[in-house]
Amino acid sequence: MTELRINENKKICEMSPLLYGIFFEDINYGGDGGLYGELIANRAFEYYDRDGKKDLHKMRWEPKDRITVTDSCPLNESQRYSAVISGAVRNMGFCGEGFSTRAGEVFRFMVYAASDKHAELSARIVNGNGEEVAPAKIDIDGAEWKKYELELTSCADCKNAYIELEPHGCDIRIAFTSLFSTDTYKGRKNGMRRDLAELLAALKPSFMRFPGGCIVEGRSFDNMYNWKDTVGAIEERRTNWNRWQMEEYQQEGRDSSDYFQSYGIGFYEYFVFCEDIGAKPVPVINCGMTCQWHEGLLVDMGELDKWIKDVEDLIEFANGNIDTKWGGIRASMGHPEPFGLKYIGIGNEQWGNEYFERYEVFADKLMKKYPDIKLITSAGWKDRGWEFDLAMDWMSRNKEKAYAVDEHFYKEPEWFLNNISRYDGYDRSLPKVFIGEYAAHSDSDIKARRCNWECALAEAAFLTGVEKNSGHVIMSCYAPLFGRADHQQWQPDLIWFDTDRSYATPSYYVQKLFSENAGGTVVETAISDDGIKVTSNVMPDGTLIIKAVNITGDAAEIDIKTEKTYDNISIEEIAADPKDENSFDEPYKVRPRFVKADGGAVTIKPYSVNIIRMENK
Ligand code: AHR
Repeated sequence: MTELRINENKKICEMSPLLYGIFFEDINYGGDGGLYGELIANRAFEYYDRDGKKDLHKMRWEPKDRITVTDSCPLNESQRYSAVISGAVRNMGFCGEGFSTRAGEVFRFMVYAASDKHAELSARIVNGNGEEVAPAKIDIDGAEWKKYELELTSCADCKNAYIELEPHGCDIRIAFTSLFSTDTYKGRKNGMRRDLAELLAALKPSFMRFPGGCIVEGRSFDNMYNWKDTVGAIEERRTNWNRWQMEEYQQEGRDSSDYFQSYGIGFYEYFVFCEDIGAKPVPVINCGMTCQWHEGLLVDMGELDKWIKDVEDLIEFANGNIDTKWGGIRASMGHPEPFGLKYIGIGNEQWGNEYFERYEVFADKLMKKYPDIKLITSAGWKDRGWEFDLAMDWMSRNKEKAYAVDEHFYKEPEWFLNNISRYDGYDRSLPKVFIGEYAAHSDSDIKARRCNWECALAEAAFLTGVEKNSGHVIMSCYAPLFGRADHQQWQPDLIWFDTDRSYATPSYYVQKLFSENAGGTVVETAISDDGIKVTSNVMPDGTLIIKAVNITGDAAEIDIKTEKTYDNISIEEIAADPKDENSFDEPYKVRPRFVKADGGAVTIKPYSVNIIRMENK
């Protein structure tokens, strides 16, 4: 019999209320082609070849010989291209896979169009066989750009559906187009795909880190992420290429040259989404450096003022009165109330002296002007080594210049098991820790990595150590969040999806269990079996929550000894074979289940995560 002893009177720390959050980056088609509800790919004919060799402006539109793309008739400064269509043309959707419809589903279509004489544009949704499932017609009545909007209702369930546009009467010029189901998350216009957003909301994340990731850094100055490009009317946002076009993994038999950032999910949408799911926004901004994994371009120290001004304007956009410039823009977009921005990451995964000299300039200016905003610095991409040591050294000399430091770990499962007590010895006088990206990787070869229970179990074991230190390790989030099946540039990912299906991985369910059972006071907990990793917390209502992670292949009978008495015990467990995974066909193979608890000793299964709740009715 294993003894689990809990002293509810011996406080270890208050658990950080921000401990479990999410990290969203537009990688693996997680944004455009994923969470973003837009169904038209290359909606404004703005796709381009970053090397300037190929013409991609017609990409995802077919047949190409009925389309002439020109830059002689721009819609505005951001939409420089438009198309003349001479016959029926289809948009093939993201990754060329179209989209799905349900009978009765209503879609919102928008197009900027013009024609030299009176013409009619049919805009219909067709299924994979070319049969019409939602018809509509628009009168085009002028040679100047005009916005037309209409709703289409699908009469059938279908997969691989497409929007088809056909001019009647004469050729028609079209610029910006857009198609959304009205069934987005919370029914928002320009909203999020509902199933994916619901999976995120179900995690009850306390914060959301966004928009990246390497995408914030970009691969060139022009490719850097600037939040100002992402606000205002969607038809006024420029298209930027997605730096994840360039990863080697996807190039083997894959083509991601259609991976762009429409900025349809922009900073306004991120903030609203955070509010919708009850998460604190944690934007990450470019600190004047491109991706250090690659070009590592640096903005001159003397030119950082523009970058810092962008952060100041971001704070005004999020928190300013509506009579300020950026607060007014927020209000004009539909949100007069401030968003309550409190945390900002200065740079993503940065390291080296060139980072800290830039960080200091940001910190010196921003901290003086915004003492309530908490700045997050970076420890780079490793758990140890010169980059990490340099960050620790810088922090020990500049304790007051950062609220928290962002650590990233993509490591094998054993690393997570060996690092459960990593934070026990951290110097509490240093900035707090934000584990801004982590995931257990089952293989060093990215193509061979699995989203299996072995990885999730190791992450769960690691989190027991994090909870014990959550007075200092205040935030954590898994990465990346989304993977579009067969189009990913990176794996493992927390949630997988295709045009209309999605499933959560074992790691997702670990995140969910830990997040749902966070809070209160972490109390002293000890177990006689080293193969079972434990932590426990007492909630404000007196409920004792024990997290017990059995990393061994043996079941264990546990005798729970507490200081207080409880009259109700319930157990939620995930138990699986280490190689088990979820999939589209078996989405719930690994998931939490409530098991019977009779009181007295509790039996926990091999390779299991157990949430044992003890309460008084
Ligand atoms: O999560 C994938 C990538 O890993 C992130 O974009 C980057 O920050 C890290 O290198």
